[in-house]
Amino acid sequence: MEAVDRTGIALGIDIGGTGIKGAPVDLATGAMVGERFRLDTPRPAVPESVAETVGRVAANFAWSGPVGVTFPGVVSHGVVRTAANLDEGWLEVDAAELFGRVVDVGGHGPVRVLNDADAAGLAEVAHGAGRGQAGVVMLLTFGTGIGSALFLNGRLVPNTELGHLEIRGKDAEVRASVRAKEDGEMSWHKWAGKVEEYLSHVDALFSPDLMIIGGGVSKHPDKFLPLLTLRAPVVAATLANTAGIVGAALATGTQAE
Ligand code: BGC
Repeated sequence: MEAVDRTGIALGIDIGGTGIKGAPVDLATGAMVGERFRLDTPRPAVPESVAETVGRVAANFAWSGPVGVTFPGVVSHGVVRTAANLDEGWLEVDAAELFGRVVDVGGHGPVRVLNDADAAGLAEVAHGAGRGQAGVVMLLTFGTGIGSALFLNGRLVPNTELGHLEIRGKDAEVRASVRAKEDGEMSWHKWAGKVEEYLSHVDALFSPDLMIIGGGVSKHPDKFLPLLTLRAPVVAATLANTAGIVGAALATGTQAE
């Protein structure tokens, strides 16, 4: 086989509630190099099975080099602190060390593990809807939960967890996530009302210069963006379902917070 030059390329892996996806990413352009590879998230999503799946995703690319992995919870210095929508067996697990056992970092270790919304935010700020935007930028992802990423002049403040702000006595993601929309069979109109209430609260706390809406809904911005009235400018993410992979790869070039 011809030797492949992988300088400036990192493998990004995105752990979601239903799928674990990965692709090598060109760090200079943020573009995926080749096809994305996806496997189902194992059930139950306990650390050992998820790690095994992460290893299979890396093996698909015969990968040896820097690896970044997203996780849907608080990750501090590689250690998982919360896992609201995955499996509580993750609490206090050193995910960086665990994934380091199943992937080959080729001397570019350790594996960089970070919150999923933080990763998506890094990608959008570098190569998507937040590119070139100075000041306070926030990404809110709407899916099974609500994830958040906060940036000041392009620098991430990790693990903000604004999906768990309390609105009308309830966790915000229980009221306004896409799962809440589906479970409650809400119309776009009704859901947009809940999203607006939530985003107004976030706006009142942080006065962002730009709010970016990410997650699967960012593929249908016409369904809800026109229904929102907010002080801060609100736009849809542009990288959609690749933002996690791209951000995980980009994070290999940053310090673990
Ligand atoms: C978790 C966050 C995560 C978000 C999106 C929330 O329930 O607490 O850490 O970013 O879901 O997956």
